[in-house]
Amino acid sequence: MRRRVAVLISGTGSNMLRLIEDMDEPDHPGKPVLVLADRTEAAGLAKAAASGVPQAAVPFAGGKERFERALTEHLEAAGTEFICLAGFMRILSPAFVAAWPGRILNIHPSLLPAFRGLDTHARVLAAGAAVHGATVHEVTSDLDGGPILGQAVVEVMPDDTPESLAERVQAVEHRLYPAVLRRHLRGDRRPIALLP
Ligand code: GRF
Repeated sequence: MRRRVAVLISGTGSNMLRLIEDMDEPDHPGKPVLVLADRTEAAGLAKAAASGVPQAAVPFAGGKERFERALTEHLEAAGTEFICLAGFMRILSPAFVAAWPGRILNIHPSLLPAFRGLDTHARVLAAGAAVHGATVHEVTSDLDGGPILGQAVVEVMPDDTPESLAERVQAVEHRLYPAVLRRHLRGDRRPIALLP
């Protein structure tokens, strides 16, 4: 039985698309059942539609409680078992997170626990770090602090800009997230390391 996976996005949805493409493989333990965005203009929605996965926008309106109730209705109606956050720019409440224990994953553009929060690429450059990367982790009520499920490393180059760094990090994210999801759906929580 394939586990039913929903992907939550706010923007481009390139990670979402990679997850969906990977779930197309016959040996994959998951099946994409829904893509949800918090903005009707999220470019990823059209990509989800083109790939044949049901999608919906749940605009953030009327407060967090109401927003999360609407998310939950969509997720439950689709029979969701696991949730992948992929560029989803909202912080979920502890109550929402508690309703899906160990069943929400997120991809964060840094090697956690370093550089939690926003603007990671610029902050990595400002700190003079030699390596950077991405982390897939379980979502808990500790923001960017849940158990690490996989990390991919990129080298920081002397002429890097936040944009060039973001591009290289995204390229490894597209390999890391599908690999972690497969492993996680099989109940294997050993972290994956992708080295340069
Ligand atoms: C990714 O870099 C991810 O790490 C961050 O937001 C970005 C989303 O990109 N959380 P995309 O929408 O998957 O293209």
